[in-house]
Amino acid sequence: MAYDTDVVVVGSGPAGGTAALALATYGVRTLVVNKYGWLANSPRAHITNQRTMEVLRDLGVEQEALLHGTPPALMGDTVLCTSLAGAELGRITSWGTGDRSASEYNESSPCHMIDLPQTYLEPILITNAAARGAKVRMDTEFLDFVQDPEGVTVRLLDRVRGDEYFVRARYLIGADGGRSRVAEQAGLPIAGQTGKAGSMNITFTADLSRYVAHRPSVLYWVMRPGAHLGGIGMGLVRMVRPWNEWLLVWGYDIDQPPPSVSDAEAEAIVRDLVGDQDLPVQITSTSLWTVNHNYATSYSSGRVFCAGDAVHRHPPSNGLGSNTSIQDSYNLAWKLAMVVRGEAGPALLDTYTQERAPIGKQIVDRANLSRDQFGPIFEALSIAGDTDSDGIAAGLAACLTEDATGATRRRALEKAIRLKNYEFNAHGVEMNQRYVSSAVVPGFPESFSQDAELFHQPSITPGAKLPHVWLVGTDGHRVCTLDLVGHGHFTLLTGLSGTTWLAAAESVRTTLGIDLHVLRIDAPNARDAYGDWHRLTAFPEDGCLLIRPDAHIAWRQDTPQNAETALTEALQTILARV
Ligand code: FDA
Repeated sequence: MAYDTDVVVVGSGPAGGTAALALATYGVRTLVVNKYGWLANSPRAHITNQRTMEVLRDLGVEQEALLHGTPPALMGDTVLCTSLAGAELGRITSWGTGDRSASEYNESSPCHMIDLPQTYLEPILITNAAARGAKVRMDTEFLDFVQDPEGVTVRLLDRVRGDEYFVRARYLIGADGGRSRVAEQAGLPIAGQTGKAGSMNITFTADLSRYVAHRPSVLYWVMRPGAHLGGIGMGLVRMVRPWNEWLLVWGYDIDQPPPSVSDAEAEAIVRDLVGDQDLPVQITSTSLWTVNHNYATSYSSGRVFCAGDAVHRHPPSNGLGSNTSIQDSYNLAWKLAMVVRGEAGPALLDTYTQERAPIGKQIVDRANLSRDQFGPIFEALSIAGDTDSDGIAAGLAACLTEDATGATRRRALEKAIRLKNYEFNAHGVEMNQRYVSSAVVPGFPESFSQDAELFHQPSITPGAKLPHVWLVGTDGHRVCTLDLVGHGHFTLLTGLSGTTWLAAAESVRTTLGIDLHVLRIDAPNARDAYGDWHRLTAFPEDGCLLIRPDAHIAWRQDTPQNAETALTEALQTILARV
């Protein structure tokens, strides 16, 4: 049967752009469509966490992202205040920039976080996808699909010419955002609550250097009258570009009709939160959106898969939106590539839901809880929801009294702000993803020694991502374990004594016809010169780890007994070839 393309991707946002980039990188024929004339026109998602940076690194675009992103030094001094010009309630060092968390973050990954607004991220994904062979069609709207056992027929509308046409593909990916038509037509079950709270985004330009440059941050949280109403926990002035491009988030009452916000009203809100009535402001856009608590319990139906906001919808708290979307597509792309090439059975694709749906639910729950965890700050200040500015000033003054009551209040406020570590330093949420599925051979159960949401725990348990460790390469430069795996293929990791595995890998490569690389710790290209690999993992030299293209560990064997048979059986199971 003739196919026009292997995969149609609907949407060129973080999920669709990553799917197109990864599939094109793996040599899969891909067509990506977007109903608009170009990519995101508002900054929207921005926090780009270490795991996402590792994904971008594997896909060869990390340097480009770094070029356009704002670095950690300008990201982390999160401020809570009564206005940018007014009193501070407190600060919290964020995104691993605090003295104590910085070393933990640095140890966890070769990559650091950046702030990369969606307007800068999407062109990196899509232009590189196109350069690697993906076909990209703008002004092209997905209308519907019909699927049968051999493929999917997709109906598209050319919004320039105005005519419709059909594309035949093996698979369809719906990366078409929170109002996903693909997910709806595929009948994906969406659990949770829609429309929890009303929010507005106001983008504007204004030079705020004098209010922020001495406490550089991505986020300035503002306690103004009405801050409790809707929105994402408090008023927010968010840096888009330091220090003159901004996005303000403010709430509205979801039980009332949605407000229409004129530029004059938007200017008034900006000046109120900045605390400067004379501030020159240029409003660039206003938009309304709702806070949702939704997640799909299945991410696919037959040959149709959904990724990103199509399957998880939540507030921007924790900055998980585009990160999770990118990571969904990265999980799906190598599986599709191997199935399209005939190297894996179609049942491998079932593991996409098995692995990503629990993560989707976890991050939707986390983001919503983080939003709610502003409540204790209001309580510590004795601020009832509808307090006016005098009430806020009185609450703050009560926190500053020079007596035991004041001391008690100060400790309560500190504790309430500390709770926000679960939003601003949730390193475990970002990095501890563990997959349980038929693409992972279970064993070696693991327990977390610290709070699994706050702290990253490196692990060589099957299902975990291969830990980052610096090794030394043949040219004497440092090379990271993650750089020696991935790139679309499986890798068998062993030590110098693991010679039995070399013969097993050679044999399996031929019998299963897959691209299986070998990484030998302590070989000249991967010397454990610092001893960190053995210190961190205590893994026997003659054992083996089978690493998937997405760097997650699929199988672990601590002894070389029956190496060839054991490796063959493991790969057959993982790749659904039995
Ligand atoms: P995304 O919505 O980005 O992309 C969907 C794509 O599908 C677009 O290219 C769209 O044009 C296309 N499309 C849709 N229907 C189509 C059709 N029928 N045919 C063809 N193409 C179609 N997150 C965060 O972390 N911090 C933040 O501050 C914000 N702020 C924010 C504001 C607003 C207004 C929104 C709507 C969202 C946010 N988010 C956010 C969320 C964040 O933007 C979101 O998590 C990611 O963009 C999700 O990426 P996706 O690729 O899944 O969808």
